[in-house]
Amino acid sequence: MTSSPPNSQQSPYFLEIYIDRATLPTVQQAAMIAHNQSQNPKLICWQRHPVNNETLLKGINATSFVSIASLCQHATKLLAGHSHSHITIYGNTYWSKDLSKLIRHLSRISGVEINKLELIDDGSSEYQKMFHWQKLSLSTQLNDLQTGLSNLKSYLTGHDNRLVRLLTRHSNKLPRRISSFFNWHHLFPTTYHMLRLDYLDKPELSQLKRHLGDNTQQIRWNYISNNIFNAEQQSLFYQLLNVSAKDQDLIQVSESQPKAEFIFIGVDSTSASSELQTKVIADSRQESGLIPQINAKKMQFKGHPFANFNQAIIDAHQMSQMPSMIPFETLIMTGNLPQKIGGMASSLYFSLPDDYHIEYIVFSGSKLDLKEHALLQIMLYLKVITPERIYFSEQF
Ligand code: C5P
Repeated sequence: MTSSPPNSQQSPYFLEIYIDRATLPTVQQAAMIAHNQSQNPKLICWQRHPVNNETLLKGINATSFVSIASLCQHATKLLAGHSHSHITIYGNTYWSKDLSKLIRHLSRISGVEINKLELIDDGSSEYQKMFHWQKLSLSTQLNDLQTGLSNLKSYLTGHDNRLVRLLTRHSNKLPRRISSFFNWHHLFPTTYHMLRLDYLDKPELSQLKRHLGDNTQQIRWNYISNNIFNAEQQSLFYQLLNVSAKDQDLIQVSESQPKAEFIFIGVDSTSASSELQTKVIADSRQESGLIPQINAKKMQFKGHPFANFNQAIIDAHQMSQMPSMIPFETLIMTGNLPQKIGGMASSLYFSLPDDYHIEYIVFSGSKLDLKEHALLQIMLYLKVITPERIYFSEQF
């Protein structure tokens, strides 16, 4: 008599976990789900873009959670039934604290092996940190990376409670720093999916580039525009991001719906007030304004997905609008960009094709601290914008 093959008992249980609290990593993770087409069970916690469509979730073998804590609770029960599990985590690089909490929890479950981390840039935050970090001396940079790694290890192996961590001499803090979020590859196989990998070519960042080695990859935006996705994958991608069929029609350039001539990029209240954005739009409609004039009829408004004042700006100028909840990168992915864009400073400009025309960008702050303005300097370095197209909030 032959017994069942020994491997059938031992083959691991594969689980995929997706977490994010912003927009860009969620868009990328949705694209990765559509691209990979895996049937592995998936646990998803996208705090800004929750997936609530049960049929959709069932179709991709996924369960959605509102918080990392509830995802962890579920994972504990799920993984207890398996003697050996292999987990891939898709996360947000900048919010390594969320990832740490998840990993700390998973590591306590018997038989769990974290096989791969796929970490995606939050947006411009990582680059703003790099901009300041590059000013450190080479030895300070090296020291920072080393102490960051031991802090990360200590933080991960500590108790969930801060005070207990402190009392047991574990780190009770994981600061939002380069040395916290760019040390994961020393602990797990990791790929950092970067918005602008080319920024690491900056000579001042050579040590960081060496540190990251071949664990980096440029984020891709061409899944749909280059026909890498078939119709089914494209539909899955849209559904995961909750872009309705009506919204898809709205962004789709066609013979009857030519490219929008200009889209004004709005931001949320952490970057600029609604009054400022209203003033900037008013200025750009005047012939004698500061910024290049855009004919009112040609201007569409694209509000930030999480700004609570988009309607007030639209009403002030009776503008037509692109639904704010559609992540702007979707237009890049689908090849439906307008002829031109401009507006307030945002991470989204980093994802545009090289030769794309940005009419103007209004940054926070003043011309006087130009040198210290991280976001602006990064955009200039990457040639996202040219100096004559830059304006400041104080000018309006
Ligand atoms: O402006 P911020 O850097 O917060 O943008 C984060 C993300 O929010 C962008 O990458 C994009 O997905 C989305 N966004 C958008 N429309 C805007 C502003 C931001 O879709 N007007």
